[in-house]
Order: sequence, then structure tokens, then C-alpha cells
Amino acid sequence: MGTESAAAVSDWTPDSWRRRRALQQPEYPDPAALDRALAELRRLPPLVTSWEVVMLREQMAEAAAGRGFVLQGGDCAERFADCSSPRITNMLKVLLQMSLVLVVGAQRPVIRIGRFGGQYAKPRSADFEERGGARLPSYRGDLVNGAEFSAEARTPDPRRLLRGYERAGLTLNFIRALVKGGFADLHHPEYFDLDWVRHSPLADEYHRTVQTIGDSLRFMEHVLGIRAGATDRIDFFTAHEALHLGYEEAQTRQVPRRPGWFNLSTHFPWAGMRTGDPAGAHVEYLRGIENPVGVKVGPDFKRDEVARWIEILDPQRSPGRLSLIHRFGAERIADALPGLIEAARAEGGRPVWICDAMHGNTQTTSGGVKTRRFEDVYSEVEQSFDIHRATGGELGGVHLELTGENVTECTGGARGQNHADLGRAYESEIDPRLNYEQSLELAFLIARKMESGGR
Ligand code: PEP
Ligand code: CO
Repeated sequence: MGTESAAAVSDWTPDSWRRRRALQQPEYPDPAALDRALAELRRLPPLVTSWEVVMLREQMAEAAAGRGFVLQGGDCAERFADCSSPRITNMLKVLLQMSLVLVVGAQRPVIRIGRFGGQYAKPRSADFEERGGARLPSYRGDLVNGAEFSAEARTPDPRRLLRGYERAGLTLNFIRALVKGGFADLHHPEYFDLDWVRHSPLADEYHRTVQTIGDSLRFMEHVLGIRAGATDRIDFFTAHEALHLGYEEAQTRQVPRRPGWFNLSTHFPWAGMRTGDPAGAHVEYLRGIENPVGVKVGPDFKRDEVARWIEILDPQRSPGRLSLIHRFGAERIADALPGLIEAARAEGGRPVWICDAMHGNTQTTSGGVKTRRFEDVYSEVEQSFDIHRATGGELGGVHLELTGENVTECTGGARGQNHADLGRAYESEIDPRLNYEQSLELAFLIARKMESGGR
């Protein structure tokens, strides 16, 4: 699979993006310090392996064919401070629990992809932020600068690239060790019970699901397609927005005995909505790597862009190579998605269709707090299932901003969290995430939708 496309990529080098317009890149006051940091990054070992990347690409091909379902989730912006044992385990736990609920509904393997281990760089709509008469560069994620509103914190610091790489490495090391050590052992779901599952209105339903899973483990092994010898373990893959192109380039490598170039900082890099210009640097960068790649598509996409994304990023029309991650919002998806599907089809595209049910549903309260309504999030997912189905296709997965923590950032859900609750435990620096209960509830609703033939 990788082989064919490797041969086809011409005029591409890991730094050919430098000849294109690169949006959303920080301005470093000391370019020599940036060069030193990137040189060091180039010498450091990769965070993931080409075997894993190829394995994910194969699994994404299954999702494109309707034989797998992608659960992609995690923080909007990972923070260095959250690289801690409880945060990482809670994130794994919620993703594991959701995936078990989904596998029962989907009756097909669920591909777990965390927005973690490198989701540290953020696109911003404004380059500067003003507060109380002071004007400072916007916070662009911990990979670039600090969130605190001071000139010192907001100055882009290239040493953060190394800290981000290291924290991504620490995160991945811990995740791998947990998974290998049996944390994700389906025979012991109690290992991934979160403390607050006991207090949740969904606890009984979740435990019944887990019971069903235990009872039918043999069947599950078949559906999950896990090889003998690893029958009771679960894979996790990582993803982040490939935004900071210097960082991505420094970890783009060739490997012995496999043609092509691999981004070995993550399994699944994607281009965000603000950097998806087919003629721009980000798409140029993604063009040449063997990883499965994603492009976010917002409501204002043009037909011509869809054709160019497919032609540039997936010239072989290789299933699993390209995911189109649509993020229209519950209000606009019914108008926008059919045209997108049609445009992709006209090009012979076979993308994995992933619904990002978060970014089109952001609202700001009268008090200036960014939030999202659970009901809008689910509505967008539900409409996605129906629209893909009505056009003879299939929704291949969901992309969510969520956390295993008990935060109050989105409203709605079974507990009826409202605007007044938002102040209680609002942590996110950028976008509001579903909390643990909202995430699990969403998984149940999606599973039901799939069970009822919505796929
Ligand atoms: C994100 O995924 O956090 C993001 C910024 O999304 P988008 O590019 O779709 O706006
Ligand atoms: Co976000």
C-alpha cells in the first residue's frame, strides 16, 4: 500500500512546504535558536514506528470500506501541565469505555485514535490578543508559547518544541506501558473504570455493556480482528494537527526496507480548517508522507478544493490514505454535507468520512464563555449517519473534543449541565470539551444509532 504512493510523489521533500505559503506559523524572535531546536529534534528518535503507521493505514482502509469505525478524541489543546499519570489514564479510560460501547453498537472494529502525544499547537483566528489596553501575541498552544497573558509567556520560544516532543514521548511511553501491562485487558474492565463512573446515571448501563462484552469475548476477538497472542489487548493510535511545519518536518523520516517518508511524531496528522488551502504549505507537507492523513472541511468549502485535496493527497485513490473530517455544525450539515460527498465522489475519492461534531457547534455565552451544547453535538453526528446513508455511503467515524475529567465546559447531556455550571470546572484554554459523562452518553447514543441501522 505504502509502496505505490511512495513512487508517485514527485518534487517532494520534507521541506518542500517551505516554498509555499505557510499560515499559522509563529514568529520567533531568534531564528538561530529555532534552527538549533529543530536540528536537535532531527537527531532524536521517532515517537512512533512505520509499522504502526502502516497498520493504522490498513485499518483506516477498513473504515473507508465500512468495516471499521474511527473514534478520534481528546483535548482541543493538550497542555504540558497535564502530562501526568491521572490525566493520561483518565483519557485512556474514557476512550476505552466509549470504544467498548461503540463496538457493541457498530458490530465492527473500533479504531481508537487519541488527540494526544503531540496535540500541542493551535491555529488562532487572530495573531494578537488585547486585554486592558495591552496587546500581545495570541496563545498558540504549549508547543509555541505560554497561555498566561504576559509578554514573556506569549513570546514564541523554540525550546518548547523540544519540551513538547519530550512530553509527547512521556505520554506515549506511559500509554504503551499501560496497554502492554494489561490495563486495556478486556477481561479486566475494572482497570478502566473511572472513579466517577459509580456516580453516573449511566453506570448501570455501562456495566451491563461491559458484562455483555465479557460474555462474548470470543465473539469480540473475532470482530476486533485481534491476532492470536494479543487477543485481549487493545491498540491506541495518536493524532494531532500538523500545524507547526518545522516540528513535523524534523520528525519526518525514511526507514530501512520501506520506501517513502513517514511522519514519525504521530500516526495520523491532519490539516486544520484554517490551513487546508490545497496550494498552501500544510497540504504540500502532507502530500509526501506515507501516513494516513486528514483534512478538516468546514461549511465554506469549494468544490474545486475537494477535487484538489483528493488529487494532491490521494492520487492513487487508495482507501485509508485520506480522511475528510467534516465540521459543519448541526445547523448547516444538512445543506453542506451532500455537496461534499458528491464532489468527492465525482473525483473517484474514497475517503474515510469522519464527523467532527465539535468545531461547527461552538457558541459564546453572554458572559463571553465558549461552550457547546451536547444536543448539537449529537445532532450533527446523527445527521451525518443519515446523510451518508441516504447517499449510499457510510460514516466512518467521529472526531471529538473530550476529556476523562469532570469538567463543565459543554452544556446539556443527561445531567442537564447549564450555563450557570460552566464556571465551576472550566479548564480548557481553547475549545470546550465533553466531560466524562457527556462522552459516555454520546457513545451510547451513537451505538444506538448504529444498532438501529443508522450506519
Ligand atoms: C481543532 O481540531 O481543534 C481545530 C482547530 O479544528 P478546525 O481546524 O476544524 O477548526
Ligand atoms: Co478545538
